Amino acid sequence: MRKLFAANWKMHKTRNEAAQTAAELVTLTAAALPTGREVLILPPFTALGEVKEALGTDARFALGAQNFYAQKQGAFTGEISPGMLLDVGATYALTGHSERRHVLGEDDALVGQKTAFGLQAGLRVILCVGEKIEERKAGKLAEVLTRQITAGTKDVPRDVAPEALSVAYEPVWAIGTGEVAGPAEILEAHALVRAQLVALFGQAGNSMRILYGGSVKPDNATEIVGLDNVDGVLVGGASLKADDFSRIVLA
Ligand code: PGA
Repeated sequence: MRKLFAANWKMHKTRNEAAQTAAELVTLTAAALPTGREVLILPPFTALGEVKEALGTDARFALGAQNFYAQKQGAFTGEISPGMLLDVGATYALTGHSERRHVLGEDDALVGQKTAFGLQAGLRVILCVGEKIEERKAGKLAEVLTRQITAGTKDVPRDVAPEALSVAYEPVWAIGTGEVAGPAEILEAHALVRAQLVALFGQAGNSMRILYGGSVKPDNATEIVGLDNVDGVLVGGASLKADDFSRIVLA
């Protein structure tokens, strides 16, 4: 399974800025990218087309979306369907990102619907999970991860292709705060996610990627990526500059 280095640009960058950053990233990493690594850029919807063009046809560089709605088409003002994303060249999408859960109010049931619908439509889905600081302090890490993964995959067929479904563990208290989870905390959480995936999907659960996200930077990426059960990273702030993100990708 290839390790996945995902750049979540959130609500940043115009089309020109996005195209330029993507092109710089390819220039900085294409020749040196170790085998077994895949790079994914998740720009805002408006820049998907430009980033697709800038990434070119190198299969090691993929395009994805930060969000979508669980319907094919219809009267859903402001929403985007998986088919529209596939049409623009995106092959991946996130579900359940903490900002969608906690700022936009998405609950476990909606995250589950979106995950199943996106996979069924042909997208590779990265289901994001993670505990809030008060949940961690109350000893509820395992409970929260189990609930989010169970609900998030409730309608996903048990024989889903393992490469199509990944989980990103992103402790809410580490997102955009500069406070990265330590190795012991990452190992513990990723082992819980792995066990849950195996409980739900059998052996295939061992082949699903588990990404870590939350204040990943060039100077902590090597250690994080080397940990057991860490099959990639989901990076926000440090993915906005090609130079920083290239150092993470090549870490
Ligand atoms: P961060 O964001 O790297 O800025 O902490 C990670 C994410 O939200 O995916």
